[in-house]
Amino acid sequence: MKHLKAIAAMSRDRVIGRQGAIPWHLPEDFKWFKQQTTGNVAVMGRKTYESLPGRLPNRRIMVLTRHPRRLLRERPEVYGAFREWRGGGSICTPYQLGFPRVAPNPGRDLLLFNSLDRLRPERFSCEIFICGGAEVYAQALPLCSDLFLTVVNLEIPDGDAFFPPFEQDFEWVADLRVTGEFRIRHFRNRRLA
Ligand SMILES: NC(=O)c1ccc[n+]([C@@H]2O[C@H](COP(=O)([O-])OP(=O)(O)OC[C@H]3O[C@@H](n4cnc5c(N)ncnc54)[C@H](OP(=O)(O)O)[C@@H]3O)[C@@H](O)[C@H]2O)c1
Repeated sequence: MKHLKAIAAMSRDRVIGRQGAIPWHLPEDFKWFKQQTTGNVAVMGRKTYESLPGRLPNRRIMVLTRHPRRLLRERPEVYGAFREWRGGGSICTPYQLGFPRVAPNPGRDLLLFNSLDRLRPERFSCEIFICGGAEVYAQALPLCSDLFLTVVNLEIPDGDAFFPPFEQDFEWVADLRVTGEFRIRHFRNRRLA
């Protein structure tokens, strides 16, 4: 059975964000993120998406929000025309038709949706990566078979978004890359592996 995968980066003290942004600049780790997600689907919370405008070409993005209509009304410059998907009976349609192009961000494929529970990775031919932020990781990790976690050699005392506890449910598989600045660690969900 195919499951979701999660990709994230946290500091030694579990920080993933500060004031709506990632509090480090590590081009090598971003390259890793890009390699993994290019050609696949990146699922992210609305706050994370809004922190990254224009920076994720060549992959389909699913943005989780509880207020798709309000986003269109209040942030047309960010969301432009979008196709709303509520899951349920028409759940196959977005996968079969592909994602719509979003007017203000040419080259980006964006779909707003409001139900993590109804995401069915087995319906996609590519991988589905959960890309944060904190609120979304906390809900989605139990649904993920694999976690690719970059542990950054920093402490961020004023961080305000944190990676949730996962150690009980996931076992370490391998360190895929170790540098002076970070270590990319692969974990597998004991229940789903
Ligand atoms: N280091 C990393 O790897 C990494 C990765 C990603 C993000 N980040 C950081 O994480 C921080 C953002 O995290 P966050 O927790 O504040 O926000 P977030 O998880 O990015 O987004 C939260 C929003 O997602 C929507 N949402 C969440 N669960 C939902 C559900 N079950 N159904 C429908 N919609 C749902 C809601 O949007 P609405 O309010 O529109 O309803 C909610 O306000 C930023 O600092 C960012 O830079 C770090």
